[in-house]
Amino acid sequence: MFFLTTAIDYTNGSPHIGHAYEKVLADVIARYRRLCGDEVFFLTGVDQHGQKVQQSAEARGVDPEAYVREITARFVALWEKLGVQYDGWAETIDPRHKACVRAILSDLHAKGALYKKSVKALYSVRQEQYLTDRDRDADGGFGPEWGEVVEMEEENWYYKLSDHTAWLLGHIDSTPDFILPAFRKNELRNAVERSEGIDLCISRPRHRFQWGIEFPFDPDYVTYVWFDALINYISFAGYRAAENADLPDFDRVWNDGPRALHIIGKDILVPAHGIYWPCMLKGIGFPDDRMPQLLVHGWWNIRGEKMSKSLGNIVDPDALADRFGSDAVRYYLVRDITTGRDADFDPERLVMLYNTELANELGNLCNRALNMTKRFTGGILTSGGEDHEEDSALRHSLATATAAWRAAMDKYDVAAGLEAINRHVVHCNGYAERTKPWELKKEPARAPRLARVLQHLAESVAHAAVMLSPVLPDAAAKLAGQLNRPELMNLNAGDLQWGLLPDGHAIQKPSPVFPRILTEPTAD
Ligand code: ME8
Ligand code: MG
Repeated sequence: MFFLTTAIDYTNGSPHIGHAYEKVLADVIARYRRLCGDEVFFLTGVDQHGQKVQQSAEARGVDPEAYVREITARFVALWEKLGVQYDGWAETIDPRHKACVRAILSDLHAKGALYKKSVKALYSVRQEQYLTDRDRDADGGFGPEWGEVVEMEEENWYYKLSDHTAWLLGHIDSTPDFILPAFRKNELRNAVERSEGIDLCISRPRHRFQWGIEFPFDPDYVTYVWFDALINYISFAGYRAAENADLPDFDRVWNDGPRALHIIGKDILVPAHGIYWPCMLKGIGFPDDRMPQLLVHGWWNIRGEKMSKSLGNIVDPDALADRFGSDAVRYYLVRDITTGRDADFDPERLVMLYNTELANELGNLCNRALNMTKRFTGGILTSGGEDHEEDSALRHSLATATAAWRAAMDKYDVAAGLEAINRHVVHCNGYAERTKPWELKKEPARAPRLARVLQHLAESVAHAAVMLSPVLPDAAAKLAGQLNRPELMNLNAGDLQWGLLPDGHAIQKPSPVFPRILTEPTAD
């Protein structure tokens, strides 16, 4: 089983384009692995606890549970709209998850991995929260938003993270593909070295806030939200689940196949996924070869600036899908960013890339391959006359594109995979312009040549449909249907070779799959 997860999104605000990117990327990878013949379990969901959620709910005068349910419904509806098809859905208020978190806390407590201690820290009376150096402003003080800041002493539960930092450094060094892309490795290594000797505070006293998972052996405390949230990756995979919990078999999901792959954004590598999580798993008793792998993606920015509530530049993926269609949004989100790097979100590029690569290039190829076959050869594909040099050049271009697509997708570089498909589509349109099937049609003696040209174009469409299917599953299925070959959608990536459409195959009635996006005329 190939086990793939995303970060679980905070339910203290509406979904944004960063959330949508990560889930579409994961969905594309899940669909691609299935195409390669893997059995896949794709888990995603929402992170519903924590002080911020409780504060947002209070500000609206609703209880936190009603609040998170309402926000959760927006995420669920968005994934439906964007065709994000997951196998497991994580909600941290789920009683099955809470039971798992409590069981782990009890296990760690029994092993002596937890202890209670009292620490003095600065506290904002107005915001009712402890402050850290990150809350200081540029001149080192605390701004007026914090009100009176006092030193307070608070007793909490700690996890002996420091027992595992030496092991973690060794694990990072001995596991070159622990983090993808590799350029993130040093950032993590340095952070681990800086964190040596520091344990993790995993509780919050209930008198401060209540919206969290209660400690099993100390009811005055709730669980720190990160400790709770990280456990979703195993609780919803069936770890320590009851027989009748309707969760998968943990051994099948976690232990039988490649290591779990966690897709996360760059901001949550350090410390949560790169330090806390492996050290938690180590303390729980997971062996080194079952430690997960981290695929760390970059951020979408807006005109070079970070997307944020305060800048008011948050892009709403739901409105974007209503305006441009779900296909265009999915395509853009994985086409215009290199996995691991940041990119600038630009709706004009969304329209341009969709119109150029899908509506024009691929649309043109489909129109030629399918419409001309319908009109010129009665919808029948045959291998026709003798082979010309330009035919073998087209087949060579397709073989090269297919190999490049696979190599890119195996590295989770979806943009490069799409570029490879597109290069072949452009090649096909050049081939059509050179061979001119519309001219061949006028000379009955050249019917065998015409048939061969159309077959080469149609075969290319069949390949493109399969290769595009992880990104654009609906459009790909439509193309397979028009080719009268729906079983293309069940093909294995390894079976992508010339001859997907057999000699004498009859296609269906074609119709456009990638309508051009018409942007509003600009007033000038
Ligand atoms: O961090 N571009 O939740 P979250 C790309 N609940 N990705 C972005 C992004 C952007 N502009 N902004 C955010 C949390 N993300 C925790 C995770 S996992 C056990 C708990 C990504 O809603 C971000 O990097 O703040 C993260 O991977 C995901 O969206 C959820 O962010
Ligand atoms: Mg965040």
